[in-house]
Amino acid sequence: MTQPRRILVTSALPYANGPIHLGHLVEYIQTDIWVRFQRMRGHECLYVCADDAHGTPIMLKAREHGIAPEVQIQRVWTEHTADFARFGIGFDHYHTTHSPENRHFAELIYTRLRDAGHIVRRSIRQAFDPVQQMFLPDRFIKGGCPRCGAADQYGDSCEVCGATYAPSDLRNPVSVLSGAAPEARDSEHYFFRLADFEPMLREWIAAGALQGAVRHKLDEWFEAGLADWDISRDAPYFGFEIPDAPGKFFYVWLDAPIGYMASFQALCERRENIGAPLAFDDFWAPGADTELYHFIGKDIAYFHTLFWPAMLHGAGFRLPTAVFAHGFLTVNGQKMSKSRGTFIRAETFARHVAPEYLRYYFAAKLGPEVEDIDLNLEDFAARVNADLVGKLANIASRCAGFIGKRFEGRLNKVLIGDEDPRRSDDHIDSLTSDLMRAADDIATCYEGRDYARAVRRIMALADEVNAFIDQKKPWDLAKDPAQAGHLHLVASVALNAFRLLIVYLKPVLPVMAEAAERFLGVAPLTWNDAARLLPEGHVIGAYQHLARRVEPEALSKLIADSKEAAPSIAAPEQPVTAPIAPTIGIDEFAKIDLRIARIVAAEQVAGADKLLRLQLDLGSEQRQVFAGIKSAYRPEELTGRLTVMVANLAPRQMKFGLSEGMVLAAGDGKGIFLLAPDAGAQPGMRVK
Ligand code: 2FM
Ligand code: ZN
Repeated sequence: MTQPRRILVTSALPYANGPIHLGHLVEYIQTDIWVRFQRMRGHECLYVCADDAHGTPIMLKAREHGIAPEVQIQRVWTEHTADFARFGIGFDHYHTTHSPENRHFAELIYTRLRDAGHIVRRSIRQAFDPVQQMFLPDRFIKGGCPRCGAADQYGDSCEVCGATYAPSDLRNPVSVLSGAAPEARDSEHYFFRLADFEPMLREWIAAGALQGAVRHKLDEWFEAGLADWDISRDAPYFGFEIPDAPGKFFYVWLDAPIGYMASFQALCERRENIGAPLAFDDFWAPGADTELYHFIGKDIAYFHTLFWPAMLHGAGFRLPTAVFAHGFLTVNGQKMSKSRGTFIRAETFARHVAPEYLRYYFAAKLGPEVEDIDLNLEDFAARVNADLVGKLANIASRCAGFIGKRFEGRLNKVLIGDEDPRRSDDHIDSLTSDLMRAADDIATCYEGRDYARAVRRIMALADEVNAFIDQKKPWDLAKDPAQAGHLHLVASVALNAFRLLIVYLKPVLPVMAEAAERFLGVAPLTWNDAARLLPEGHVIGAYQHLARRVEPEALSKLIADSKEAAPSIAAPEQPVTAPIAPTIGIDEFAKIDLRIARIVAAEQVAGADKLLRLQLDLGSEQRQVFAGIKSAYRPEELTGRLTVMVANLAPRQMKFGLSEGMVLAAGDGKGIFLLAPDAGAQPGMRVK
């Protein structure tokens, strides 16, 4: 038997300023499947992660909520860990970058890099908000695009023409925070000399640590030349102060990947406390004979394939064995969108659909390359219903009853191929051996992160099992007492086959596998269990539902709730003044029936973050409308007021009730201002 491998795995650290959504889950599910597979193979596979808690957006988010950043990140940590648990993400430890362990390693790495001459200082000129008294990150400056003139573009790139530029190039720039024109100010910054590590990085990459697409991207970056990396930010900043530089803080991206180490160190401490020590150096010292893998999204490859290995090497730590990048998620073929209700939070999804089904669907789509994947909700329901309900659970539900009722729950002996002296039924022989022989191929697929191929192979085997049952017709055999022995064998073969399929799917479907283990009356299945069958006389339990269909109504509710639950993020969601929308004709405008309405009642909506329920009088009728104005108005201020509503908007079923229209309000991302008519206007008047 080969030695168990010792493997440490990480997923990228989510920022502590917003909820976990389906886009994040692609990565955590991809990683978790790999980790579970390795553990089933008998390897020591440790999986750590943490919240990425530092930086300007988090600091400002906390300010917006009127709380300390420490409070904000603690709240988010609690939400994130609950979301990961819902989706079965089995971290050994989930930490935070705002921790003593992370401060320790950030300082250690920085001082080692500095002492080895890899840090330089120089003054740079940057935009400064004179009102907020702080330097502004590029995303917090807006102005006209220097290329196409489009208004309200961010300080780094134009969303209209795609130009990239420096914030100083913007026309009439303003601070998103205060609206003031930024001033240019000089400040000393600390830089990491990445180019010092080019030969080492080239060697590491040549050793096969990266996927082809990432390697090609790196060639381009090498070609362009490796620039020094600015690792410092001026106060005010939520992060760690640089040891020898008062008022200067480590840039969030400096200490984020160090969070992998910090989380692992915290795991070592926990393990020490329970008497199962784990040595930090076994996984991080140079020359360690363990494996280290980082799963990441393609957008952060630069940080993980250049800065991070260079920092590790420069500070005397080991290099990652490999970095695995995945693509982005689209929903129904498009970028996730709040208005379409496809910006779906993990928590919202789990309220309507079993999280395991998402694991299955992502697994069925994920290959080893850096490709985007699409979650098509109709296809999702069709696939889950066909594969998990129609194929997999169906095998057990069709055969368990015979064993329970006719044979006291005891299985017949099932033999493989040539071992079977009866050799009376080639189909029985070949089905079992086909299933058992597939173990190595399926393992290779999981190991190489080709889950899509693994799932195809497993489902093809499930098809074989169902075809076997269809052909043997145990329900007919059950009618003939003379066929009892054959019935026993057929049902036992099918249930053994079911067990093998569960072994193969267990990394993807841990909850269903656990239920199947209970039903089969077996200990937690490992990969080696695919090399044996259940013995004669093994007693199975009563069958209980293993999978339920995904109904279209659940998906409609998911979309409706996602429209309501769209997250707020730290960077302003809307421009100070949004660009003017494309021109429409008078006929199109005339389709909108705007009416004066009187707010006759307004009340809080239990469980809604942003909504108030308004009862509107239109003169001839009353309407209920849920309006996202809670942050700006107390209900009692609204009662009796006149406002303007869209009276012919299609009613929308929301979680809290039917919304029969919309009230009009102006907003700039900071305030909300309900429209009101001049004196004399009456409820029901048309607005033209
Ligand atoms: O892009 C992001 O969401 C970052 N918070 C990822 C950090 S990964 C690692 F380096 F910590
Ligand atoms: Zn432009």
